[in-house]
Amino acid sequence: MSQEQWKSKIGFIFAAAGSAIGLGAIWKFPYIAGTGGGGAFFLIFLFFTVLLGAPLLLGEFVVGRRAQSDAVTAYKKFAPNSSWSLIGKLGIVTCFILLSFYSVVGGWIIIYLFEAIRGGLNGLSQDQYGALFGELIAKPWSTLLAQLVFMLMAIVVVAKGVQKGIEKASKIMIPALFILFLILVIRSVTLDQSIEGIEFLLVPDFTKLTSESILLALGQAFFTLSLGVSVMVTYASYLPKTQNLPFSAISIIVINILVALLAGLAIFPGVFSFGMEPDAGPVLIFAVLPAVFSQMQFGVIFFINFLLLFLFAALTSAFSMLEIFVAATTKHDKTKRKKRAWTLGLLIFVLGIPSCLSYGVLSDVLVFDKTIFDLFDFTVSNVLMPLGALLISIFVPLKISKSALYEEISLGSKSGKMFFNVWYYLLKYVTPIAIVIVFLDVLGFLDK
Ligand code: PHE
Repeated sequence: MSQEQWKSKIGFIFAAAGSAIGLGAIWKFPYIAGTGGGGAFFLIFLFFTVLLGAPLLLGEFVVGRRAQSDAVTAYKKFAPNSSWSLIGKLGIVTCFILLSFYSVVGGWIIIYLFEAIRGGLNGLSQDQYGALFGELIAKPWSTLLAQLVFMLMAIVVVAKGVQKGIEKASKIMIPALFILFLILVIRSVTLDQSIEGIEFLLVPDFTKLTSESILLALGQAFFTLSLGVSVMVTYASYLPKTQNLPFSAISIIVINILVALLAGLAIFPGVFSFGMEPDAGPVLIFAVLPAVFSQMQFGVIFFINFLLLFLFAALTSAFSMLEIFVAATTKHDKTKRKKRAWTLGLLIFVLGIPSCLSYGVLSDVLVFDKTIFDLFDFTVSNVLMPLGALLISIFVPLKISKSALYEEISLGSKSGKMFFNVWYYLLKYVTPIAIVIVFLDVLGFLDK
């Protein structure tokens, strides 16, 4: 059965950038940067994105485009009768777990949107915003309902298919996200004391950098680019031979860095202008940001603006997590897509119920000292994703011939050859070694 294709080159770039831009850039990045040294963290994140993230992204693109098939079949095509297709299966399981708790946060965005629109976020004190966040996410029924709504939005789009669903939605949501961001950043950098926040993000102070923040920056670089789970393999499988892969990868890297920058510029100037602390951690967006906006004129409107762009970012990532699963189970049989999207999407919702409730009725349930949400997050972000990334970086140079790789990547010029060599050796040596170091560290092996 023939494989569906993206309708346009730019459609693919929006969809892949949509997968990349998500909670990672908008929620995690500001709070990790906030606790991990601001500008210095940003620089290290940039360094890892370019040196390690970019080669792996291009590697996943090559696998997908050359194989023209879903994440499991793709690896089988290069290495028949071997266990390498486990990489694809690992990616699917990882996305399954990831989306189950990702959708919980997606639900929180919807709850906050609802609260902001009905006026429930007006005029509280900073502490009250913190307390409100705790209260809102502890309510079982509304959080579950919001999580379900988030999943339904993802299901409806993915069920429509690659072109009519994912591509079309991304082509609207990603440009809209940029426009909403620009409005917000203009507001933010024109605040009276915005300069302190801008300096915090852009002027590196290396004394604030710890080995922990360096490792977080590496994990963040992979997470925000959706690497290691074969999502980018799946998206690239819908590409024709004419697409320039290095150009696509570089565009996505640039867009992703830009979004992290915009997120920082939208958030830190306000945080500093209104005398709040940047290092609040994971609650930065939900407990500190509403307090920041409440002090601005028309603040609620700006906060709604922020929540909308946040929702678009989370949704376009959710599409990719569901799509990898749908693609692998339908094997291009278009007649099965709708049914699979609904069944798998609802199953993911069910798996996400304990994570959702772990902020309320199940908050006492601890496994390895972590709540269910934290356990899932830790397993995915610190174990499964780096493991997948490591395996892909080993697989590509090992199982795909150098000439085939060159064919996919070279642009037919001399500079193409140099680019290829830099890419090839980075992927073959630097990426896996860096991942192993991070891996050993998160698992506690490098502790003194
Ligand atoms: N890149 C997404 C984000 O930053 C997360 C993601 C990881 C999406 C893996 C798909 C696959 O939020």
